[in-house]
Amino acid sequence: MQVISDIQQSQLLCQQYHNSGESIAFVPTMGCLHDGHLSLVEKAQSLADRVVVSIFVNPLQFNDPDDLSAYPRTIESDISKLSSFDIDMLFCPEVGAFYPEGEKEVEKIDLGEITTILEGEQRPGHFAGVATVVKRLFDLVQPDIAVFGEKDFQQLMVIKKLVSDFSLGIEIIGMPTFREPDGLAMSSRNIRLSEEQRQAATEIYRQLERIKNELHAGNSNFLELEQAANQRLAEAGFSPEYVVIRDTKTLLEPQSATSELVVLAAASLGEIRLIDNILL
Ligand code: PAF
Repeated sequence: MQVISDIQQSQLLCQQYHNSGESIAFVPTMGCLHDGHLSLVEKAQSLADRVVVSIFVNPLQFNDPDDLSAYPRTIESDISKLSSFDIDMLFCPEVGAFYPEGEKEVEKIDLGEITTILEGEQRPGHFAGVATVVKRLFDLVQPDIAVFGEKDFQQLMVIKKLVSDFSLGIEIIGMPTFREPDGLAMSSRNIRLSEEQRQAATEIYRQLERIKNELHAGNSNFLELEQAANQRLAEAGFSPEYVVIRDTKTLLEPQSATSELVVLAAASLGEIRLIDNILL
């Protein structure tokens, strides 16, 4: 695995792969890697000749400077975790080199309504930051395939829209959420939870499961189910932002024609914001 921070060097290497007729699968991350990330890497390995992983804590997608500075950075242990995989390149650029025009001057990508609801409403500008960094990374790496986790369900939809709006011709693969034995979705933020918060954190998944079971049992009072889950999260010590039942294709409220549902939740325990979702 070549660890490269230089933009031109990484671009050159990816071009060489392409020139030799090899396909590239790409896994963009912000580091602090856990088994969920490693499952994306494993998937990437099975799909292409070359695997490129990036680690870049993208300042553009943080709307809270404290959240950005508290975001865990664990590059040494990330490199050691990645060493046991057959990865060709780990790209970890510096912020100044990645955004040479200066963070404030970067022209951000606006992908419309999907970026303004749920996470977009709670974190204004977040998805413009995600779309902008992912587009820049895609332009550099020119992958054939890119692999993302379904835990960030809305992000996955945003990236699919990015690929379609810009006709990038990249296949986007979504991989199921990896969970701890008690159901907590794996997240780089989990390491910041205190022991007490860690125990409480599993409640998000419990509430999602509870709604799923209710829906399967024929309960269709969505609003009541959402409100009850919000209340239970608050009782468990969370500051809930939303628990909603949505149409998988639009993330809007389900209509009579909706065939598939997803339940999405965002809630904070102290300073730590967690998100999760469950497909029905
Ligand atoms: O999901 C993440 O880790 C980030 O949002 C991504 C896609 C790497 C963009 O910075």
